[in-house]
Amino acid sequence: MEFFEAVKKRYSYRGKYRSSPVARGDLQKILEAGLAAPSGCNTQTTSCIGLDDPELIRSVGTLIKSSAVTVAPAAICVLTQRKPGYADVYFNVQDYAAAIENMLLAITALGYASCWIEGQVTGDPKIPAEIGRLLNIPPEYSVVAYLPVGVAEGEGKRPRYKPFAERAWFNGFGKN
Ligand SMILES: Cc1cc2nc3c(=O)[nH]c(=O)nc-3n(C[C@H](O)[C@H](O)[C@H](O)COP(=O)(O)O)c2cc1C
Repeated sequence: MEFFEAVKKRYSYRGKYRSSPVARGDLQKILEAGLAAPSGCNTQTTSCIGLDDPELIRSVGTLIKSSAVTVAPAAICVLTQRKPGYADVYFNVQDYAAAIENMLLAITALGYASCWIEGQVTGDPKIPAEIGRLLNIPPEYSVVAYLPVGVAEGEGKRPRYKPFAERAWFNGFGKN
């Protein structure tokens, strides 16, 4: 898929997924896209765990109260390490946001659907803690987001975006 087509096509899919598996090679490509994202001072604070074990996906899915999660045949668990870029300046949130967007675009380009599930993971500290226990994640890493991956069974609901002229301008604020 052409880059700009993938950008336009990406949206948060919260419907059912087909049971057809996600090839391990595709999951690898998606993870590589995430790791290729920029990071503040090249600290590379983002790590990811690809999941294609149905039992594990079910266990993690039951922890996250989101319809987008439980039924996907694959998933990515996104981890961050809170390390400073320099002095006491931290970029790790920006780092994992960039990595997630790269992965969402790769997921779309490969013909899969996904959703950036963060609020429903970090909203209750028990959820990242329990995911960490299930996936043997060392304590210096925090679980920050979960991306289901699979072929969408139907069309999800796309949001309405504000018009271009309300959010982007040329050569000065509010100038067209
Ligand atoms: C930081 C962040 C956290 C998010 N957390 C959730 C979430 O927990 N559950 C969910 O269904 N969507 C979540 N989303 C997806 C947003 O709701 C979605 O991106 C937004 O409504 C715009 O829709 P679109 O992705 O289809 O363009 C999150 C997105 C971001 C960037």
